[in-house]
Amino acid sequence: MDDELLTGGMANAGAVLRRGTLVERPAGPNALALHGFLRALRAGGFPDAPLPVGEPVGGREQLEFVPGEVAVSPYPAWALGEDALVSVARLLRRWHDASARTPFDQDADWSREFADPEGGSLICHNDVCVENVVFRSGAAAALIDFDLAAPGRPVWDVAMAARYWAPALDPTTAAETDRAHLEVPHRLRLFADAYGLSPADRTALPSVLEQATAVCRAFVARRIAAGQPAFVSYFDSSGGWSRWDRLQSWLSDQRPLLERALKE
Ligand SMILES: Nc1ncnc2c1ncn2[C@@H]1O[C@H](COP(=O)(O)OP(=O)(O)OP(=O)(O)O)[C@@H](O)[C@H]1O
Ligand SMILES: [Mg+2]
Repeated sequence: MDDELLTGGMANAGAVLRRGTLVERPAGPNALALHGFLRALRAGGFPDAPLPVGEPVGGREQLEFVPGEVAVSPYPAWALGEDALVSVARLLRRWHDASARTPFDQDADWSREFADPEGGSLICHNDVCVENVVFRSGAAAALIDFDLAAPGRPVWDVAMAARYWAPALDPTTAAETDRAHLEVPHRLRLFADAYGLSPADRTALPSVLEQATAVCRAFVARRIAAGQPAFVSYFDSSGGWSRWDRLQSWLSDQRPLLERALKE
């Protein structure tokens, strides 16, 4: 059967293939612990993530191909709509509810790239970007790409996901990427409501969003320092550090507004 190259990723660009009902991709250093966790999640009644198939061989892993649609940039209107936003928040909540009741290998070398600096008691996905959600009939149906999963607090994963979906973008970058029409405080509130975020986590979310943004910036800095081509070319074409500076100062200016939007 012919392999089909799957696009939409950056970390493993050019190395993710579909072969019939399977996806074959580079296995992370923590693949065995991750596969054990995904199998336990499925056995515990969470159907919305692909099962690994077999063991990693030669640094490659196989997972079930999840049928559906994955939006890629420039994002189509349906992926930026409120129905999509709400359905992603609900899917993330289902992941967290299942994750909270699923034991994981505490001694495994979970990725520290996007991990909650405060740690936590459940496995967060940490990378629920638009390209890592499979939709069916306009609703988020499954999460994929668990390379950056790690123990953390649910509010950390909510912040990491909301960065992409609210999205956390200053007006200049929002305009440059055709997302100026999205009302961020309103959408963050919608996301929190659909997730069922607790009052304490609502209060914390705007500052966790800033913390998550700083962790993502540090991740990009490591990729740029390592000279990884996909990251370097995206970084250079999207405004470099000045874009991150602008985003971070906008987010901190927005904090009172976001806090209010999440409370009212
Ligand atoms: N199990 C799967 N089922 C369906 N589609 C998949 C699956 N795994 C990957 N894909 C498709 O392939 C694309 C790239 O895969 P993946 O997210 O694993 O790559 P990546 O380079 O590791 O991504 P990232 O840059 O987010 O780390 C996804 O955006 C999705 O469209
Ligand atoms: Mg991906």
